[in-house]
Amino acid sequence: MDMTIPTEQVRFSVAPMMERTDRHCRYLHRLMSRHARLYTEMVVVQALHYARDTDRWLAFDPSEHPVAFQVGGADPTMLASAAKKIAAAGFDEINLNVGCPSDRVSSGRFGACLMAEPALVADCVAAMAAEVRIPITVKTRIGLDDDRTDDRLEAVVAAARAAGCHVFVVHARNAVLKGLSPKENREIPPLRYDRVYRLKNAYPDLTIVINGGITTLDGARCHLAHVDGVMLGRAAYERPFETVGHVDHLLFGEPFEPSETAIATRYLDYAAREIAKGARPNAILKHAVNLFRDRPGARQWRQAVSGPGATLATIDHLRHLLDRAVTLETLAA
Ligand SMILES: Cc1cc2nc3c(=O)[nH]c(=O)nc-3n(C[C@H](O)[C@H](O)[C@H](O)COP(=O)(O)O)c2cc1C
Repeated sequence: MDMTIPTEQVRFSVAPMMERTDRHCRYLHRLMSRHARLYTEMVVVQALHYARDTDRWLAFDPSEHPVAFQVGGADPTMLASAAKKIAAAGFDEINLNVGCPSDRVSSGRFGACLMAEPALVADCVAAMAAEVRIPITVKTRIGLDDDRTDDRLEAVVAAARAAGCHVFVVHARNAVLKGLSPKENREIPPLRYDRVYRLKNAYPDLTIVINGGITTLDGARCHLAHVDGVMLGRAAYERPFETVGHVDHLLFGEPFEPSETAIATRYLDYAAREIAKGARPNAILKHAVNLFRDRPGARQWRQAVSGPGATLATIDHLRHLLDRAVTLETLAA
């Protein structure tokens, strides 16, 4: 079975983010880029195992491809059976979380604390790979706590590679398991991009994606001189149009196509369809809060999409705001 992913398909991805990269958010990102690789939020394997209705995690729109499912867990048997469900649902990749530092996750003995157990990481990868024909990949950190050596990352990568993993996403910071919150763990441990570049040099056969603190596509382009791909998390969510909206043009050499208003119009059509099927309006609209920045009408847009109690009438109001924004832009031109 081929566990590689064409480099073209990993050049740019949007990071898995809990409470953010649900299927509505991914739909919005896909409207902005045909090429970005999209990830689900981390789903804990037990949830897939025990929940009666797994559709809330496994359902997605066909336009989302290529789309990867991120799973959290450390029980090879459970992961193997989850992998079958994920592959049957049509996802393009299964990514094992070896980077989440939250207490809750560490007490379940998975996430970043798995960096201390390379043999178990290998067992998890091998168990999933034995069941499915889609690539199993790993997202990890460069080390644990105050360890400055290369040893842990080296051990995790070597073990997972031997088990068949060929694609690694590396958040270029250590994970501090005690004393820092998940948010602090994304800000305080220093970024060491050179460590990720060295990993690529040591394993030229592996596909290495760098993550952490990348805020612009110019920055992304610099990293691409050293590694195969870049993954953006917060910048993609907080400034979606300036990042994801420009990816096809700046990183894939395609003519620049989208405008915020065109994307917003298509997203409102999607929202109306989803609401008609029973989705909560706020669950969809909240992802569009950052779409317009510094544009005429941006403040009214933000207020309208983030207000509580949105309904189908809110969609009409937003459509009206868009029409007005287009008129203002035309007048200003
Ligand atoms: C709100 C939020 C939720 C996150 N949830 C996940 C997650 O479910 N799985 C994961 O591997 N990383 C998660 N992360 C970490 C990101 O994937 C990424 O590694 C981190 O934010 C660093 O990248 P950035 O500087 O581009 O944001 C999350 C980050 C944020 C901000």
